[in-house]
Amino acid sequence: MTKKRVLSGIQPSGALHIGNYFGMMRQMVAYQKSSDLYCFIASYHALTSVSDGGRLRSDIMEVALDFLALGLDPDKTIFWVQSDVPEVTELTWILSNVTGMGLLERCHSYKDKVAKGLTPNHGLFAYPVLMAADILLYQSQIVPVGKDQKQHVEVARDIALRFNHIYGETFVLPEPEINDDIAVIPGVDGQKMSKSYNNTIEIFCAEKALRKRVMGIVTDSAPVEAKKDPAKSIIYALYKLFADEKQSEELADRFLAGGLKYGEVKKELYELISEHFAPYKKRREDMKNNIDYVYEVLAKGAEKAREKASATIDKVRREIGIKY
Ligand code: ADP
Ligand code: TRP
Repeated sequence: MTKKRVLSGIQPSGALHIGNYFGMMRQMVAYQKSSDLYCFIASYHALTSVSDGGRLRSDIMEVALDFLALGLDPDKTIFWVQSDVPEVTELTWILSNVTGMGLLERCHSYKDKVAKGLTPNHGLFAYPVLMAADILLYQSQIVPVGKDQKQHVEVARDIALRFNHIYGETFVLPEPEINDDIAVIPGVDGQKMSKSYNNTIEIFCAEKALRKRVMGIVTDSAPVEAKKDPAKSIIYALYKLFADEKQSEELADRFLAGGLKYGEVKKELYELISEHFAPYKKRREDMKNNIDYVYEVLAKGAEKAREKASATIDKVRREIGIKY
């Protein structure tokens, strides 16, 4: 049986957090055993929010280190930086011409970002077309993402359908894959955890800062003796991600029984998080001291990705009539 092609990317626009980990990175690492996996660092997408070249350069390396430390194996996966395969921008332009304005105008992510004060520019508006190009260039079948990205994968599918309708069967139709149990991980303030909201718990955070962050999780003002609803607690939602079923049930009982001190549970949560990431932290430090290895991995990854990309772009160029 041929393995399914799975692809996803992440923006290098700040330190990665446990929302990224549970929403996307962990699935990707797990997928490398059972699929034909493509994983990339979305450097062009990051330009919609980062305009400091030095910062982008260093964030790209940080994300590479994060993925490799978390177990992404470059022998089993094609792992590269998006902009090392510039064919993706060519495909973006071509796809723009089969993408209706209405399709992009309906995108929640664009509307949310503008509502949050980001100045709308063409890059931000056309972001889903670049994302469609990422997905279609590699003929991806499955795209594991957090819930917030589902609509973008659907847009990619619509664009592929439209292109195939006009020029004939060219692109595989991709499907989003969302883990419903952990669709949206809350941040320390209860909103969706996001690099842009300053509410994250970073995966590779220094111990002291991690502890401070966890101790700062927002709680209600119910007195210690009150019975509390675990379903309404951010602490409980995060605890469940790291604990096994038995531990989670025990904590739910403690919430319901009354007498629970938030401070104590936060300490327990901090310890669980710290233990969970400890082995990866060690690996990351070792790799950071051998950064040439990371450059080499990314260069080899780009070469392999480019080979696949060239085959698709060649076909597309022929179909649309610019290859003669
Ligand atoms: P951010 O909002 O922090 O900038 P990105 O948009 O770069 O995160 O998301 C990268 C990946 O991580 C995407 O697949 C996204 O769906 C997932 N993700 C981000 N935040 C969360 C969250 N709070 N819960 C679940 N998944 C998330
Ligand atoms: N937009 C995605 C995010 O912010 C990152 C991304 C870019 C992506 N291109 C992609 C995800 C292609 C999946 C497939 O999370």
